[in-house]
Amino acid sequence: MKIFLVAAARPNFMKIAPLYHQLIKYENFDTKIIHTGQHYDKNMSDDFFYELMLPSPHFYLNVGSGTQSEQVGNTMIKFENILFKEKPNLVVVVGDVNATMACSIVAKKLNIQVAHLEAGIRSFDMSMPEEINRKVTDAICDYYWTPSIDANENLVKEGVDRNKIKFVGNIMIDSFELLKDKIYKDNIKKELSIDDKDYCILTLHRPSNVDSEEMLKNILNTIKKITKKIQVIFPIHPRTKKNILNFGLNHFFEEKNLICLEPLSYIKFMNLLLGAKLVITDSGGVQEETTYLGVPCLTLRENTERPITVLEGTNTLVKLEELLYYLELILKGKYKKGSIPLLWDGKTAIRVTEEIIKISRNF
Ligand code: UD1
Repeated sequence: MKIFLVAAARPNFMKIAPLYHQLIKYENFDTKIIHTGQHYDKNMSDDFFYELMLPSPHFYLNVGSGTQSEQVGNTMIKFENILFKEKPNLVVVVGDVNATMACSIVAKKLNIQVAHLEAGIRSFDMSMPEEINRKVTDAICDYYWTPSIDANENLVKEGVDRNKIKFVGNIMIDSFELLKDKIYKDNIKKELSIDDKDYCILTLHRPSNVDSEEMLKNILNTIKKITKKIQVIFPIHPRTKKNILNFGLNHFFEEKNLICLEPLSYIKFMNLLLGAKLVITDSGGVQEETTYLGVPCLTLRENTERPITVLEGTNTLVKLEELLYYLELILKGKYKKGSIPLLWDGKTAIRVTEEIIKISRNF
C-alpha cells in the first residue's frame, strides 16, 4: 500500500515524523513524504527534518510564500501532478495549514482516500485561515484521527459518521518523547547565559496579532513592561519579524532583559520550554506542549481550537491588558497546575498505524 504523508509548515514536521518512523517498520507500506514548501527557510524546515531524523522529502513542491489563494492554488496544481503519476492509496494530511486543505481536496477529487490526523478541533472563529482549512478538510475526508474527545464531539455535530472517527491522542507528544534524551541534553540555556535565571518565552505569529500595526505595537509595549519583571526570550517568526521592521517598531529589539532570536530548532525550543517560568504565545502547538510539560501558558487569543489545554492543562486565554495580572500570579506560585489529557502519551503513532493496517485490508 502506498501512503503519502503531506507536510508544509513547521508544525507539520513534528506531526508526520513519529508516524513516518512507525510506518517504515512495515514492509508492505510504501511511505512517502511530500513537502509542499510553504516553509522553506533552513531554520523553519531543513533543521526540523534533520532533528526529527526524517529523510529528505520524496517530493518537494516548492510552493513558497504568497497570498492564501496563491499558496492553496499552487499547492493543488503541483500536488495533482504528483498524484497523477504516483497514484497513492492513502493521503494523510495533518494539522490545519493551507496544504492540509489543498491536498485533501485534490486527493478526494481523484478518488484517493484521505485521512486527517488532528481532525475535529475547532476554534469556531472563521476569521482564522486555519479554521477554514480544518472545516473544509473535515467535510470531505475519509478517516478522522482526533487528539482529544472534544474533537470527536465537534465532528459528530457536523454530521460525520461516528465509525469514521478514532480518538488516537496527540501526535505532538510522540515527537517530544522520540527526542526526549536529546532535548534534555541540549545546552541552549548556557549559550544564552540564562541557565540560572527565571525567564519567559514569547512566540507570536497569528495574523490577528501581528498583521495590524496597532495591535502589534500594543503587544510589544506590554511585553516591554513584562521585561521589567522577568527576562523574555523571543524567537521571532519570519512573518512577525517582517512586520516589526515594516511598521518601524525595531526599537523594540533594543529593550533590556529581552533576547530576540531567529526561529529555534525543535530540540532547542523544547529545551528552553522545559525550563521556562511561563510562555506567552499565540501558537496552537505551544499550547499543547506547555500543557504536557506543566509550564504555565498565557495565550494571546480570544479563542482556542484546543480547549482541553485550558480545561485540563496549564493554558489560559488572556487579553493583552490581563497579561501582567497573570504574570504576577505565576511569579507568586499561585497559578493553576494542570494535568495531562488522556492519550497524550507518546503512543499516538502506534494507534494511527493500527488504523492504517485496518485500512490496508481494503486494498
Ligand atoms: C503557517 C500556518 C499556521 C502555522 C504557522 C506556523 C497557514 C494558513 N498558516 O503560518 O497555521 O501555525 O505556519 O509557523 O497555513 N516565511 C519565511 N520563511 C519561511 C516561511 C515563511 O520567511 O520558511 C515568511 C513568508 O514569506 C510569509 C510569512 O513568513 O511572509 C508567513 O508565512 P506563511 O506560510 O504565509 O504563514 P505562517 O504565518 O507561517
